[in-house]
Amino acid sequence: MAKEERLSWKNFRAMIGPSFRGTSFYYAAVLFFILMAALAQVAEPVITGRIIDALISNAGNGLFEAIVPLVGLWAAAYFASIVFSELGRWLSWKMGNRVGNRFLVEALDRILGWDPQRFSETSTGVIGKRLDAAWHAAHNLSSRIINEIVPILFTSTVVFITGLWLDWRMTLVSLVSVPLAITLTLFVYAKTDKRQSKHMEAWESLSKRILETINNIVPIKAFAQERVVSRQQAKAIDKVTDRQLELNVAWAWLDFGNGSVRILARLVLLFVGAYFITQGTLSVGTLITFIGMLSYLLAPFDYTLADVMRRISEIRTAFARLSGDWFKENQIVNSESPVRLGKVQGEIAFDGVSFRYPGKEIDTLHAITLRVPAGTSLALVGPSGSGKSTLVRFINRFLDPKSGTVTLDGHDVRSLYLADLREAVGVVQQDTVLFNDTILNNIRFAKPNATQQQVVAACKRAQADEFIRSLADGYKTMVGERGVRLSGGERQRIALARVFLASPPVLILDESTSALDSETEHKLQIALKEVMKERTTIIIAHRLSTVYMADQIAVLDRGKLIELGTHADLLETGGMYDRLWKLQSGGYLPE
Ligand SMILES: Nc1ncnc2c1ncn2[C@@H]1O[C@H](COP(=O)(O)OP(=O)(O)OP(=O)(O)O)[C@@H](O)[C@H]1O
Ligand SMILES: [Mg+2]
Repeated sequence: MAKEERLSWKNFRAMIGPSFRGTSFYYAAVLFFILMAALAQVAEPVITGRIIDALISNAGNGLFEAIVPLVGLWAAAYFASIVFSELGRWLSWKMGNRVGNRFLVEALDRILGWDPQRFSETSTGVIGKRLDAAWHAAHNLSSRIINEIVPILFTSTVVFITGLWLDWRMTLVSLVSVPLAITLTLFVYAKTDKRQSKHMEAWESLSKRILETINNIVPIKAFAQERVVSRQQAKAIDKVTDRQLELNVAWAWLDFGNGSVRILARLVLLFVGAYFITQGTLSVGTLITFIGMLSYLLAPFDYTLADVMRRISEIRTAFARLSGDWFKENQIVNSESPVRLGKVQGEIAFDGVSFRYPGKEIDTLHAITLRVPAGTSLALVGPSGSGKSTLVRFINRFLDPKSGTVTLDGHDVRSLYLADLREAVGVVQQDTVLFNDTILNNIRFAKPNATQQQVVAACKRAQADEFIRSLADGYKTMVGERGVRLSGGERQRIALARVFLASPPVLILDESTSALDSETEHKLQIALKEVMKERTTIIIAHRLSTVYMADQIAVLDRGKLIELGTHADLLETGGMYDRLWKLQSGGYLPE
């Protein structure tokens, strides 16, 4: 799992910048609407002041005529401010969705491009939470922030200019509290920014826990550990809310501080204003206008600033936590000028292939050299953990070796166009995972344009057609998440049907018949022989009845190739294979 990185401005821009492409016209329109709304909003207190002055000076005759146009203007200004601000808000939400969605698509594409090995080092819950938070952050940045700051900045600028025009002394007096408000906000921001990260961390670990619980529900129930898991989850939830509370309290203190500062500001304004009135240099109406304008003038420096800094802190944290996953280089990518594969013969050769998983003390595979001529079959056998599954992962580049090369038809697989290579090599993994979709769609996934007949033919070969038809919904049966509604052997046969349908020139079967009963397996062997005739096949199996007819059998032990030959050769050598064969065919081991 990539750690949180310090988020540089350059990285931040690289992450979000492209999602803003082509939106400047719309943002210009948003600014226009906001500007219009701000103008109308400022006009409103100014007109109120005029109405009051008119009331005072025209008491008696002519009052009605004097205030009617002013009141009409006041209503129009008020209405216009609502219309423009809603228009601006609507368009900025629309843009926010656009930018946010593009960002998420890009982030998900990046994850699709990860090296397969990275998924075994990543927790689904954590990455899910990070994506979710960054998506929200992108949306807030591209819509909410603009919606919140820009109108207030505009309004306060216009108010400021209007204030200077009405009475510059009162304008300055209105702003005396600003340095205090800014200092307060920056102080709280500095205090909370680290906590924001801790809060996010708590969220990630909760998200991870929840997913793990669901994925491990069988052992949890089987060992009756629900209470323990529930307690752990409650702890994780408390941690999230505790951290949230810490943050909320800090920001609430800031709001309290800002509120107090505002009271102070108004008192100062009132006293100074009253003094100017007694001096005869200020009208009562103007004082009331300034009191009305005070909160607009101060907003960018107190409540809004606080709100924006809080959001910036959230956005910064969300992007920082995702940035490690975002920028980490992938190793398994197309070379500079990848070779396109034409017709594949299917010769596979390993030459001195060694490998070590990250964090392991010793090599998992030691200098393996092996050649599988085109159209022949190789069986890999050996104890659990000896490296069989690892070895075949180099063929379709789920892993790249630490040293040595793997070639397909003489091309180093690293030089081949990755999609061509993966299309040429079909794999049935040791544990079959299916999509939560129908059987038909799961099989067709390998070849989306396959006809129903082709699917059925592939299923017949894989001994799957019969059981599928016996299900209530037949090929339309939903298999459940990861395929849980099917038995292990049924899942395996679906996986086989899928790869038979794709019919790749190179086929790798990793323990792909291990869950079948002997009778079904026997039937499948016949089909498998057919399938193997047409292509290069590598079979990994513990049950030797599956592998003895292979053209070559390779025995791996602790990452080393210890025996290689035909069934007959290896029985004659009398090594590990011979021992295993005797054990499995019901013989006994002589001392
Ligand atoms: N993704 C991984 N990350 C780290 N180590 C791994 C990973 N996958 C396998 N290993 C380790 O590499 C070694 C070889 O594993 P591999 O899966 O290749 O064995 P195998 O021969 O296929 O065993 P089995 O017969 O049980 O399937 C094991 O010790 C295993 O713990
Ligand atoms: Mg294996």
